[in-house]
Amino acid sequence: MNNMNDTPQLIKNENYKVEFSSVNHEGLGVGRIGNFTIFVFGALPNEVAIVKLIKIQKNYGYGKLEKILKRSPYRVNPICPHYTGCGGCNLMHINYEGELKIKYNTVKETLERIGKFEAVEVNDVIKMDNTAGYRNKIQAPFGMENGKVIFGFFRKRTHDIIPIKECFIHTPQTLDILNFIKNLCNEYRIPAYNEEKHQGIIRHVLIRDSRKNGDMMVVLVVTKENITELNVITEKIAKRYPQVKSIILNVNSERTNVILGKKFKTLYGKDVIVDSLGGLDFEIGASSFYQVNPVQTEKLYRTAINYANLTGNEIVIDAYCGIGTIGLLASKKAKMVYGVEVVEEAIKNANKNAQINNITNVSFVVGKSEVQIKKWDQEGIKADVIFVDPPRKGCDQEFLNTIIEMEIPKVVYVSCNVATLARDLRILADSGYELKAVQPVDMFPHTTHVECVVLMSRK
Ligand SMILES: C[S@@+](CC[C@H](N)C(=O)[O-])C[C@H]1O[C@@H](n2cnc3c(N)ncnc32)[C@H](O)[C@@H]1O
Repeated sequence: MNNMNDTPQLIKNENYKVEFSSVNHEGLGVGRIGNFTIFVFGALPNEVAIVKLIKIQKNYGYGKLEKILKRSPYRVNPICPHYTGCGGCNLMHINYEGELKIKYNTVKETLERIGKFEAVEVNDVIKMDNTAGYRNKIQAPFGMENGKVIFGFFRKRTHDIIPIKECFIHTPQTLDILNFIKNLCNEYRIPAYNEEKHQGIIRHVLIRDSRKNGDMMVVLVVTKENITELNVITEKIAKRYPQVKSIILNVNSERTNVILGKKFKTLYGKDVIVDSLGGLDFEIGASSFYQVNPVQTEKLYRTAINYANLTGNEIVIDAYCGIGTIGLLASKKAKMVYGVEVVEEAIKNANKNAQINNITNVSFVVGKSEVQIKKWDQEGIKADVIFVDPPRKGCDQEFLNTIIEMEIPKVVYVSCNVATLARDLRILADSGYELKAVQPVDMFPHTTHVECVVLMSRK
């Protein structure tokens, strides 16, 4: 066995003593053997363990936890039976207090390392009181095992499906519906899609629920539109689950990792389900983005809108607006809100959401934020505040440049990826903006994902 203080000649399958300092974005413990970085599944910060070196790259490697010599006080036994295989909840071996510390450190260290901000003040992570079944949406891949259709989640870093019987972060009812659909596929001989052979029919089933009234939407993602047994399957789902108010067919015949195809067809009920946040109702379509943790979403939006400090006279832009949630909630305290979003159905929902909530001081358009913001600038719209809530890849540089050119006094950035957040904030900071507040919100308990709201103001 080798010591952790010097870098020995590293040998595959040998055991080493490793001290761990942090957890990376995939939930792997990050430790060192001398100057060599090693990533180990299941290891936690401040632990010391015997690790078998299983993969060696130039400056880093991967190991397997053999024996813990010094145990983290936050370590717990994962409550999920699928924890070791499923790539979903990668922080189930740590209690919630420890998890929140990891998230806090991730935000602070990333803003300092990638964003080059010094001694960033980060507020404590806004936590969840009860994390069981927090997700309102599941996207389960379907596959074949021993000639039978199965559903589950992808095994870590693969597209092999692990059949799932229980899941702590989804509701039991969602899994029950998936199981029912799986049984129907077996009964009516609808084979699951095989990615390698590009054969089969059912690819994914997506289910979304409304925490307001329990209504559910089921989206069947299939490779072709004409499936003889579709009517009977639809009827059976609707009859067995009266809370399912919408069943949608989505056709995806491409060789792709993208879950949804372009074509949607409503098989039963409505095109949308309705949820409510912050006192407003929101229609949500099958292809529209909607936050997956509604309890925490209310806290997230409240923080973002408080940061905007609206008085009723402001012109507000809601960029990457989805179904208009942030803009509509902010509209109560603003003069006018302009929203932009690239998904057409989401903007259809946003306009309807304005209507059902009797809100008239909003205007939503379909488009790319980076293109639309220039149009607003040319039209002479002088925004006082811009909400920015992009996907994981963050903002287009052109978009940030236009914010800078427009001299928008306040930028409230909502992000689900602190690395791209840090990169984008640095661009703003280099052009006259000051980092004023950083508030992480735990939208994804038991995973390493962390959401963050940041306020930047022009100096
Ligand atoms: C993280 S979601 C936020 C949506 C909304 N603010 C909310 O809280 O529900 C990001 C949204 O940006 C949209 N989007 C992605 N790229 C875009 C772009 N270049 N311009 C405008 N919208 C975009 C996505 O379709 C998605 O609805």
